Amino acid sequence: MQRHERIDSERLTLVLAADGTRPPTLMYFGKRLPDAQDLTELETTQAIGWRESTPDVQPPQTILPTNGWGWMGEAAVRVHAAEAPAPIRWSSCEMQRHDNEIEIALRADVPGVLVNLNWALDAKTGILSARATIENTGKKPLHLSQLVSLYLPVSPQMSEILAFEGDWSRELQPSRFAAPPGLWRRVNRTGRTGFAGSTFLTLEPDAGDFSGAVTAIHLAWSGNHELTVETLPDGRRAMIASALLDDGEVILAPGETLAAPSAYVCRSLDGFNGVSDAFHPFVRDNILPATAHGARRVHFNSWESVGFEFNEAELLDLADCCAAIGVERFVLDDGWFKGRRNDTTSLGDWSVDAGLFPNGLHPLIKRVHDRGMDFGLWVEPEMVSPDSDLYREHPDWCIHAPGDHRPTMRNQLWLDIARDDVRVHLFNQLDTLLRTYDIAYLKWDCNRFQFPAMAAGRPGSSATVKATYDLLDRLKDAHPNTEIESCASGGARIDLEILKRTSRVWPSDTTDAIERLRIQRWNGLVLPPEILGAHVGPYPNPITGRKLGMDFRARVAMFGHMGVEVDPRTLSDQERSSLTHHIALYKQHRNLIHSGRMIFWALPDGGDARAVISNDRTEALVLAGQTAVAENGLSAPLTIPGLNSAATYRVRLVEPWPAVVARRTEHLTGLKDGLTFSGAALTSVGLRLPLSDPETAWLIHVQRVG
Ligand code: GLA
Repeated sequence: MQRHERIDSERLTLVLAADGTRPPTLMYFGKRLPDAQDLTELETTQAIGWRESTPDVQPPQTILPTNGWGWMGEAAVRVHAAEAPAPIRWSSCEMQRHDNEIEIALRADVPGVLVNLNWALDAKTGILSARATIENTGKKPLHLSQLVSLYLPVSPQMSEILAFEGDWSRELQPSRFAAPPGLWRRVNRTGRTGFAGSTFLTLEPDAGDFSGAVTAIHLAWSGNHELTVETLPDGRRAMIASALLDDGEVILAPGETLAAPSAYVCRSLDGFNGVSDAFHPFVRDNILPATAHGARRVHFNSWESVGFEFNEAELLDLADCCAAIGVERFVLDDGWFKGRRNDTTSLGDWSVDAGLFPNGLHPLIKRVHDRGMDFGLWVEPEMVSPDSDLYREHPDWCIHAPGDHRPTMRNQLWLDIARDDVRVHLFNQLDTLLRTYDIAYLKWDCNRFQFPAMAAGRPGSSATVKATYDLLDRLKDAHPNTEIESCASGGARIDLEILKRTSRVWPSDTTDAIERLRIQRWNGLVLPPEILGAHVGPYPNPITGRKLGMDFRARVAMFGHMGVEVDPRTLSDQERSSLTHHIALYKQHRNLIHSGRMIFWALPDGGDARAVISNDRTEALVLAGQTAVAENGLSAPLTIPGLNSAATYRVRLVEPWPAVVARRTEHLTGLKDGLTFSGAALTSVGLRLPLSDPETAWLIHVQRVG
């Protein structure tokens, strides 16, 4: 006899069916069904019947398939007892619902396995949180090589994949393609979330910015993982998200439990913006720590302006210049600690360099405070340089294969923080720093892949990831008001598990604003803009060499958590005045930008638009970033979606206007003080801006007046 459990959000319904002996099947996950829908009858829509050349009793596609009994697809669990390897055979499945959560307990008496699944649908946003644990209920150790966080059957109509590739300073390159027969799989073995992130999507071929069915899965895990879309020969399809375990990494002792990372799912029927519409409020309300919710202060970060080349007097001067343009937080990046004058030494020695700062950081912090700013500091706690006091004292504290050589990356090694003594030492170092100085924010970096893949003497790297979470948790408990940013050579550690402990991320080492349009846009599928560090970089850009004007750079940065990496002392008067103006604009609008609904869409003339619309739809700020040469000589109108059609809005083109206006202005003069349009007109007809040169950013303010 099948039992059904149904959970609903405002817009979605999810139904599982189970017969008490094997894992449940996903009967339905889509648009909300009427309360009166008969679930038993709904089940008939799922029946696949008998087919030639298949087992006489077809194993169904469950949400926890295993191999060995006629299921030919991917397995969600692979576990065996050392002495008696045999396929898992489930003996019972209990399914219970509490409010919006379904709990499933699956037992296999031989070899003594209990798997618990918990699927919860957030009532407001419809985000599905999936958790899985495995417990050894037997008397012998169990070898576990796979426990997926989520195995989600999706319909064959979800026939395209959107996934991301990435590398240093080239994060989140989208690639969209037809789901291939068999397996598509992306594997990350860097020991961090990776430059490609941990989100992937399947979609209907006609899905786009605002329409079409999309299923997005985010794996909340800052380590090795694999993302899979499997298409069986008969067309059935599944999305699978899993941490990656190495051979021999997990041996569960009797009584021991292992929890897989959480996976979060958005089922959107409104294209990509439906995904952000669900994830942004979910992340704001359910993931981010309390420190993420205050007004986002304008940062200055020293890395791209002075790098390692600074002294105390220069920093004092820099602090004055930063305050003068409106900066609110002064962050001293790499190079402040004992002996660190380049990237070959000193990681692990987290005391202030006495040569550079004879009186410690006190004079600098005092100056920063006197100028009305607070102070932030860069650290890279998980690392050690072979040329450091820490390494000389504890050469065995780094991750290494005993007796083998110790390969470095950026001249550094990874500390074995899964060891308690190493973690306690690091906690004490950071705790001392935070007790000695008034530090509002730490930029927590991690500039190396994790290799060899070992932790506390065992194969694999997941214990190291968990140890990082533990260290961050302990530090947050001891210093609840210190904000922490997650950085890993840019955006290689951005996921919803690290974000339970950090309130900001550094999405990329590239501050090239055209690159940032893409990087902020695709991070924005899951992450709200206030946690994306977005800094105005130097001219030309140190990574791409591109020479983008200050207005363009500053406007792109306004749509995240704005900051400055360019040295303000090097700016021309015009650049300084533009930067100061945009910092003031950001402050004026940051409440809107960081609490409203952020939407993204492609500009027909080549480029990318985004808008933040207040939740009551009374105000919006729009950025239209033209990046390419338009195809046609006549510009396409800029339509603004998401407004209230019946309301009247005053629309203003925010100054300074792009240079192109001097050549093609006639119809624009009214937009200086504002023209009035209905929401319907803005959404369907739009504004006709002049044909823009590439590298033009328009900023448009929309205010409801009736
Ligand atoms: C990494 C970070 C940069 C900067 C440097 C300092 O590359 O991503 O922002 O902090 O380290 O060494």
